[in-house]
Amino acid sequence: MAATKEIILSGIRPTGRLHYGNYYGAIHHFIRLQEAGHCCYYFIADYHALTTITEREDFFRQTLDMLRTYVACGLDPKKSVIYRQSDLPCTAELTLLLGMVTNIGHLERGTTYKDKMGKLAETPGAEGNPLSYGLLGYPVLMAADILIVRADKVPVGDDQRQHVEMAMDIAQKFNHRFGETLKVPAPVSREALRLPGLDGAAKMGKSEHNALDLLDDPDTVLRKLRGVQTTTDPLPLNVESDDPDVVIPRMPPTVGVLYRLLNLLAPEEVYLDFLGKYRRGEKFYGMLKQTLAKYVSEFSAPIIERFNDPANNDESVMDFLRENAKKVTPVALNTVEACREAMGIGHSLFRA
Ligand code: TRP
Repeated sequence: MAATKEIILSGIRPTGRLHYGNYYGAIHHFIRLQEAGHCCYYFIADYHALTTITEREDFFRQTLDMLRTYVACGLDPKKSVIYRQSDLPCTAELTLLLGMVTNIGHLERGTTYKDKMGKLAETPGAEGNPLSYGLLGYPVLMAADILIVRADKVPVGDDQRQHVEMAMDIAQKFNHRFGETLKVPAPVSREALRLPGLDGAAKMGKSEHNALDLLDDPDTVLRKLRGVQTTTDPLPLNVESDDPDVVIPRMPPTVGVLYRLLNLLAPEEVYLDFLGKYRRGEKFYGMLKQTLAKYVSEFSAPIIERFNDPANNDESVMDFLRENAKKVTPVALNTVEACREAMGIGHSLFRA
């Protein structure tokens, strides 16, 4: 059990297949917090996914696939409360209430809003309404997710930091205007790792087509790693340290991603051995890719096995989603009722 039990919350958009960037950026931390005995809420942000759709997508199907992978990685629906955002519809009610204390200018300055607006403008077929009210309100919905369970900590990557800060801000404004009602979460700590893509891009991403998937079979792993570009002359490291955070930024980006994965998945001596080869300017990339592929597949074999376990099927996921939605609902309603009371409309007289 954790010395101090904290309330942890994080949300993940339903994307279907998960990759090593998702693993080291999120899943790994979620499991660590779960095993430390904290009170963890992890949910699939399907309402959020609706803010950026250009065509209808089957989010429920993607949610089921994703959760089977989470369970295969070690996330345990008996230890963590894992639910679907839309199974907690009072989140939408809290979003509405929080919207009353949210400044539009503040939302318009959000970096995600600005980026998505830019991207949507370039997407064919999305000209219709790139500027939805839902998209602008993305951070308010996210604030509702966080505040509704009275989260202490919100483990997210750097790209979500600003959203958490907006949630802190909204909670403070609310408390200032209506009295101490909401718990203000702590600022995001910087521990999540951002894994680069196999093409050397700053971030591994599903839509960037540069991802190594957690469920890739050994042949696919080897093929993808062989495809990583390594013809660039190794740049001299000019540094004694073997620390991956020191040496990897000095390598060509595509080579850096191989070393990052090796450092994460292979024993220390294997990483150091290949680092030595790099320093000496040897020819070793073929061997490096083959060795790395072996460690990747060793790591993923039990995950793939648990993913395909007949007990880990759609029904079992639906069962725990239902059970966990039942657990989080009273906690969430408590917050919503407190906000209603604080704002003056008072408790609801009926809820289905
Ligand atoms: N916006 C987050 C993302 O795109 C997902 C998310 C929604 C979230 N609500 C949240 C993360 C609340 C943390 C807390 O990844």
